[in-house]
Amino acid sequence: MTTTEIRFLDQRTPDEKDRPFLPGMGKTWLLPLYDAFARVTGVQAVYERTAALADIGPGHAVVDVGCGTGNLSLAVLAATREARVTGLDPDRDALRRAARKARRRGVGLTLVQGYADRIPADDSALDHVISSLALHHIDDESRSTFARDALRALRPGGTLTVADFGGDPAPGGDEAGRPAHGHDNGDGLHNGHGQRHDHGHGNDHGHGVAHTLRHLARLVRSRGKHNPAVDRAHGDSLVTLLTEAGFDAVREVEHLDHRFGRIAIVRATRPVDTTQGA
Ligand SMILES: C[S@@+](CC[C@H](N)C(=O)[O-])C[C@H]1O[C@@H](n2cnc3c(N)ncnc32)[C@H](O)[C@@H]1O
Repeated sequence: MTTTEIRFLDQRTPDEKDRPFLPGMGKTWLLPLYDAFARVTGVQAVYERTAALADIGPGHAVVDVGCGTGNLSLAVLAATREARVTGLDPDRDALRRAARKARRRGVGLTLVQGYADRIPADDSALDHVISSLALHHIDDESRSTFARDALRALRPGGTLTVADFGGDPAPGGDEAGRPAHGHDNGDGLHNGHGQRHDHGHGNDHGHGVAHTLRHLARLVRSRGKHNPAVDRAHGDSLVTLLTEAGFDAVREVEHLDHRFGRIAIVRATRPVDTTQGA
């Protein structure tokens, strides 16, 4: 049965109430711009491809780690309304936005305030763990803990599908996977097959809010060049992280060349023939 209930849970320990985190736009006061920014810069294609590649079926239990304002969760629910999706994020304001969006669309969603290193699920309870553009916000130690905890929470054969900056750099690109595009006046994405995802913004040099957001995009990108979080998400570190945690069949299934850098979509499976912790 499809539910339209929105549930909100706070799983932070008293110690975690003051635990710092890197918000979606780098600063909490920029959060109201996040969704417009994602739209204008063509990131919607990342959500749709990640949701499609995760191959989530009706009734499947899914946790979206670092869900922010719920874009990937909602892309999953748009494709499979009967999926049981939980979004996890430390940012309460982002979760509130996700709740509002889910309510407007009439889909059910559970939102949990918490951190990636403690996935809100019993052992072997999940069919899928998914995440988009969140792991580069998380420090190395927490990323390793996240990978091990995802393995714990997934059922044997369950899958992890993660989209994040990284993957093999594009020819001529830099070590952080940023493409070598000299000129930057489009908003589209190119996927790993050289095909352009264009959402109607490609020829729009725009004014007003869209214009401001493009400037903001350039600002964030130029700051990203010196951002240790972005620098940490280079090369095949995601594949290495998941392999070291004990996942099977870890591979980059697709990449999208975004103006901020290469976004790799990596899939991995919890092995069926081992017991977690054995
Ligand atoms: C760039 S946003 C991506 C949000 C969303 N997944 C999307 O693609 O639109 C990164 C998100 O990671 C979250 N985040 C930061 N530190 C985190 C942590 N330790 N655990 C879980 N999420 C975290 C931020 O609050 C933010 O919502």
